Amino acid sequence: MAQQGNFKSPTRLGTLGDGAPLSSPGSISAGKPREEGLKGVDFERRSFLGKVVGGIGAAVAVSTLYPVVKYLIPPVSTVASKNEIVVGKASDVPVNSGKIYQFNKDKVLVVNNNGTLTATSAVCTHLGCLVHWDSAANIIACPCHGAKYKETGEIISGPQPLPLPQFKVRVEGEDLIVTKA
Ligand code: FES
Repeated sequence: MAQQGNFKSPTRLGTLGDGAPLSSPGSISAGKPREEGLKGVDFERRSFLGKVVGGIGAAVAVSTLYPVVKYLIPPVSTVASKNEIVVGKASDVPVNSGKIYQFNKDKVLVVNNNGTLTATSAVCTHLGCLVHWDSAANIIACPCHGAKYKETGEIISGPQPLPLPQFKVRVEGEDLIVTKA
């Protein structure tokens, strides 16, 4: 059965007398003063833990962002381009054949047309496919949209807007040497 009555009424409090404590043994304490309540809290430890958590957060952020930034900002090339490169051996390009070599950042097609060596860019000026030497037709041909060039890079036919840029090529001893035109 629920208790009734006003337990905090002055009448009831008065019956407790002046010396009686206002709280009963089972009552909840109103709390300690702030200074007393914070006794035993180790602020240095808390601050240290805060730094550790912050450090871990920073490490996770850096490890996540680093690949993204590296992807967005390509590395600066430290390799200087050369004017002249020994690309291979003269025997690599026998009569009536062609071979593509890397020349700095360019791809160069060296053609041996009946013993005469020529070199042009190997990248079609239409949409950038790699061309090849067609020994049966004696032309440089692009497999993508049918561009045709002379071995010197001039346009024969096709959709390409420009001739192939030329390079110089020569043989020294066994070496095949390509030079910027
Ligand atoms: S890319 Fe060579 S013809 Fe189109």
